[in-house]
Amino acid sequence: MTTDLAALQARHLDTLEAAYATTLSHHGFDGVLLYSGHPHRHFADDQEASFATHAHFLHWVPMPGLAHSWLLIQPGKPPRLYFHAPDDFWHLPAGLPDEAWVSRFAVEQGRFEQPPALPGGRFAVLGEVAPDLAASLEAELNPPALTAALDEGRVRKSDYEVACLREANRHAMAGHRAARDAFLAGGAELDVQLAYLGASRQRESALPYGNIVGLNAHGGVLHYQHYDTAAPARRHSLLVDAGHRYRGYCADITRSWAGRDADPLFAPLVDGVTRLQRRLIDALAPGVDFVALHARMHRELGALLVEHGLVTASAEAAVAGGITRAFCPHGLGHLLGLQVHDVGGRRATDGSPLPPPQTDPMLRLTRELEAGMVVTIEPGLYVIPLLLAPLRASSAASDVDWAKVERLAPHGGIRIEDDVWITRHGADNLTP
Ligand code: GLY
Ligand code: MN
Ligand code: MN
Repeated sequence: MTTDLAALQARHLDTLEAAYATTLSHHGFDGVLLYSGHPHRHFADDQEASFATHAHFLHWVPMPGLAHSWLLIQPGKPPRLYFHAPDDFWHLPAGLPDEAWVSRFAVEQGRFEQPPALPGGRFAVLGEVAPDLAASLEAELNPPALTAALDEGRVRKSDYEVACLREANRHAMAGHRAARDAFLAGGAELDVQLAYLGASRQRESALPYGNIVGLNAHGGVLHYQHYDTAAPARRHSLLVDAGHRYRGYCADITRSWAGRDADPLFAPLVDGVTRLQRRLIDALAPGVDFVALHARMHRELGALLVEHGLVTASAEAAVAGGITRAFCPHGLGHLLGLQVHDVGGRRATDGSPLPPPQTDPMLRLTRELEAGMVVTIEPGLYVIPLLLAPLRASSAASDVDWAKVERLAPHGGIRIEDDVWITRHGADNLTP
């Protein structure tokens, strides 16, 4: 950790202490106990599932993977960290890093499968805590109003958080370059995944989400989850949606590549989606309505489909007839932070719900952009048989050149995704 990052983190924690004091007092609490969570065991087994530390805990303690630990926040007192590090000769116990933030916490090390006793007063406990345990603590478990207010406190990122997100992006891009090279060298999906992990220096269980590595038609499965071990004979395309976690903060990046057997239609479409993504990023600034920007993505996708002859009607007709939504069923992007799909995307600042439009139920961000938010911008264009079959049976079918759609089908799809910080006057792309 650099001195600069330590200084940014100190300011981040100053801000967090002040914000928690205000929020707790507003909601009538004397304090809150944040639980890191712990991994689940497989049934009748002694093996554990992979695990992600609770994000509100990580907001303070930059140790993703830390389990069975608790953090007590009481305004006016140093945060008290109950750090689970039991004596164990089967495993290496967690250790506190030699970093400046540790000295501002009151730390107790030991066994904390059971929660620490709380002082008298009104307390909340946040995290995956068994209800009977919370009742024995005499604390309110995940009270919705307090939870929503603390979620809102994660929507605008501090300079420390932006620095962490930038670093996560830097590692992820090293992985993406290696993934592309492994694909061009003839590798199978598993080879691409292993090349990504090696170059981004991360084990699979530490990733912020399961990397999506789709060769050929698998690129059209939005969250494709397998890694074929055999390389296909025909190499049309690769879609890689893969991230990295740095001190808990997530990168979420997608790249699409044409293979040696790609149809001449495909590479210009990758280029078109890339340029469309750049235009949308250029439009980012505080005050921009993300729902309106999502609508613009559809208009421009319509124009792209017309330009390349996939749609024979106008761009407007492609949007109105539901054609663009059959080719791209997901949202333009989402908030990014300690969670890939970060909290607070569908609520206004005052906590009132902002549901997505009926036409776009998958849109995860429906609010106006503000300085400090970090968002993904990820337009896509896919051949998804499940969505194109109803279009083919609809009145809009005659507006589509189905022969061209068939030529594209073996390529699956295209997605280009970057992570962008909304600054006071515009935006800064964190993806190098
Ligand atoms: N990687 C999941 C997403 O892009 O939202
Ligand atoms: Mn994303
Ligand atoms: Mn993604």
